[in-house]
Amino acid sequence: MPDWTPKQLAAIQARNRSILVSAAAGSGKTTVLIERVMSLLRAGAQIDRMLVVTFTRAAASEMRERLQKALTREARQDRALKKQRDLLGSADISTLHQFCIKIIRQHFQAVEADPMGRVGDEGLLKSLLDRAVEEEMELLYAAPDPDGQQLIDQYRDMQIDDMLRRLYTFLRSQEAPWAWMEGHLAQMDAADPRPAPPPRWPNSASPWPSGRTAPRATCATPRPTWRQRRPWPGSWSKTAACRRTGRRS
Ligand SMILES: Nc1ncnc2c1ncn2[C@@H]1O[C@H](COP(=O)(O)OP(=O)(O)OP(=O)(O)O)[C@@H](O)[C@H]1O
Ligand SMILES: [Mg+2]
Repeated sequence: MPDWTPKQLAAIQARNRSILVSAAAGSGKTTVLIERVMSLLRAGAQIDRMLVVTFTRAAASEMRERLQKALTREARQDRALKKQRDLLGSADISTLHQFCIKIIRQHFQAVEADPMGRVGDEGLLKSLLDRAVEEEMELLYAAPDPDGQQLIDQYRDMQIDDMLRRLYTFLRSQEAPWAWMEGHLAQMDAADPRPAPPPRWPNSASPWPSGRTAPRATCATPRPTWRQRRPWPGSWSKTAACRRTGRRS
C-alpha cells in the first residue's frame, strides 16, 4: 500500500459530505478511489449498495478489476470482505450511460421509454442527429410560419443548421429542456407585441414529447427548398417533404 499523501488520505477518509478530487494524470486518483471504497467496505458497507460510475468503459473495467484484486487480497483474512468480493459481480460499477440505461429499462413505463433502448455510440448518434436536422430543415422550408419565414430570410441555411445543433446540445444539458424553452419563448413573446402563437409543444412537462405539432406542408405551391437553395450532401428529392406530410404536389 502506498504512503498516502495528506490530501489522498483526506479524500479516502472523508465521510457524510460530497467531495471532488481533481488531480493530474497518473497522480493516484483511481488508487485513492479504490482505497476509499475498500475502507467503506472494511467498515461494513455493502458493495451492491454503492454506485461507482466512470465516463469510459475502459475506466469502469479498470475499477472493477482493481477492486477485485484488492478484495481478493483482503478476503483471505476477512470473511465479510469475502462476501463483498462475491457480490462484486452484481455491483453497479459501470459508465454513467450504462447505469442510466439500466434505470430507464427498470422503470421504462414511468418515463415512457422503449424498454429495448440502448446506449447509442457516437457514430449512430451523429447520424440520427443529422437526419433529425435534415427533416426539420425540410419542414421549415416546406411550410414556414411567419417566424420560420423570418428565420429563412435572415440567416443562411448553414447558420440555421448550426443554430439548431447548438440549441440541441444546449437543451440536452438542461434539467427540463422544454420548460426552459417555453420560458424563454414566453419572455420573447412578452417583448413582442404580436398575438401569442399556439403552444409549440403539446406536452411541455415531458422533455421529449411523443406527439408534435410541427407545421405540415401544403405542397400546393412548391417553394424553393433549402436543398435547392444550397447544395447539400445526401440524396433528396423534390417531393420528399410532401411525402413526409402524406400529400402529393
Ligand atoms: N501516494 C502514493 N505513493 C506512491 N505511489 C502512488 C501513490 N498514489 C498513487 N500511486 C501510484 O501511482 C500510479 C498511478 O495511480 P492511478 O492509476 O491511481 O492514477 P490516476 O490518477 O488514476 O491516473 P489516470 O489519470 O491515468 O487515470 C499507481 O501505480 C499507484 O499505485
Ligand atoms: Mg485513473
